[in-house]
Amino acid sequence: MSSSGSVTPPVKQPSTSGAQKDSVVPSLVSNAQNAGSMQAVETVANLSVDEQHLRKTTASGALYDEARIMIPGGASSVLRWASFEPYPLYFDRGVGPRLIDVDGNQYLDYLLSYGAMINGHSHPKIVQALRDQAEKGVMFGSPVELEVKLARKFLQMVKTAEMVIFGSSGTDATSNAIRIARAATGKDMVLKFEGHYHGQHDYAMISVEAPPSVAGLEEYPRPLPYSAGIPSLVLDTVIVSPWNNLRAFERIMKRHRNEVAAIIMEPIMANSGIILPSPDYLKSVKEIAAQNDALLIFDEVVTGFRVSPGGAQELYGVTPDLSTWGKALGGGVGISAVSGKKEFMELIGPGKVSYGGTYFANSLVLAGALSNLEVLSEDENYGFKTLKDLTNKLMSELSKIADRARQDVCIQGAPGMFSLFFTKQKKIINYRESLLIDWNKYRLFSQIMMEKGVYLHPDNYERIALSTAHSENDIEVTLAACEEGFRELHERHSN
Ligand SMILES: Cc1ncc(COP(=O)(O)O)c(C=O)c1O
Repeated sequence: MSSSGSVTPPVKQPSTSGAQKDSVVPSLVSNAQNAGSMQAVETVANLSVDEQHLRKTTASGALYDEARIMIPGGASSVLRWASFEPYPLYFDRGVGPRLIDVDGNQYLDYLLSYGAMINGHSHPKIVQALRDQAEKGVMFGSPVELEVKLARKFLQMVKTAEMVIFGSSGTDATSNAIRIARAATGKDMVLKFEGHYHGQHDYAMISVEAPPSVAGLEEYPRPLPYSAGIPSLVLDTVIVSPWNNLRAFERIMKRHRNEVAAIIMEPIMANSGIILPSPDYLKSVKEIAAQNDALLIFDEVVTGFRVSPGGAQELYGVTPDLSTWGKALGGGVGISAVSGKKEFMELIGPGKVSYGGTYFANSLVLAGALSNLEVLSEDENYGFKTLKDLTNKLMSELSKIADRARQDVCIQGAPGMFSLFFTKQKKIINYRESLLIDWNKYRLFSQIMMEKGVYLHPDNYERIALSTAHSENDIEVTLAACEEGFRELHERHSN
């Protein structure tokens, strides 16, 4: 998640319509200065918005101007506009790894709808499956055969899961998993890790991004709301631990002995950029969870159906009690899942744990998700090999290019996703270390890359994601653009 949605949001700069584009840079500077925020002034000074880019994207600018009058912020998700300067792009079509905006410009897509589009855009088989189902009926409010087929496919791929149930979003999956854990243990407290994101419900919107000046000791962070409107009673039921620090975690668990129902984490941290677990860390957390009669929940919403067919739990050989899935499970349709051990999953039912939603597992999304998983597992999971090989190549070549351009970068990732941080740090191992990155430099880099037709989210905490639709040639094109991009960054960042 972006720091742009944090408790101290940076000043959002206004967009200009197409007709006003030429005056965009001075007006941005004066607005930031008026706001009196040093950070905002620095951001704007670094972001010399390319005039040509503005002229090429006038239709996006005009749509954003109209949208902001009707929709708070201009779009139905804060992340879709908050870091974009001076306005987000509006896309009209997606084909394979490419996006085409409303002005007709093409981009290689490395955001992939925050990782959902694992097989790229408008894959012919997935489009056909959706078309066929739309003709038969979108939803019936009853169980359907497709749900059985999808559960079968899911359990074939995620071998560590005994049962699975579907929902609509990652947010509902994590909130339901936490509820199951509370019902199973009869306890209330949830332990989450600093910098981890689990969706938009109250129990998850805590210490996602927290300025260290108010976030307490690194070893014992204070729970802080990530949004206005979170009741203080909720804060009283959430404990926050630093991640990748077993000693601190053990100490916190000791302090809250017999209180913790659920320990929820991203098994590979993916919302403060990509941060990998230290060797044996996941295994040790699992042992401590079991000793404390707390359920371990792996939130695989980002890692699932991306880093391996069975998610990070397969990659690291650690099976949690419950898991949550979303994004790449659907490949573009709104579906999520909770999976786990039978003894916990079977707590769902009348008079026990309530579970349901009008749009949950409707026929259209089931058809899309099933087709998506079928494509992904074709030829003995060949898609996962493609993702791994392409990610490794992009990461290693980018590192060489950055060296040649004398840019200090730290690149770290897992199959199908990685982060590029501008920092002198050789490695980032937790949220507090991720604060040492040059946030503004990455933002400028993403903007330069966008001008070159490579679409990266300007928020450095968002992952650079690959799809099975990306080709070796796309990677070559991207690397050539990055080589130029680093050079330009050198000139524009120091100005
Ligand atoms: C790890 C993780 N969990 C949960 C969610 C919430 O998923 P959704 O946006 O589908 O509600 C996200 C979304 O980015 C996520 O990254």
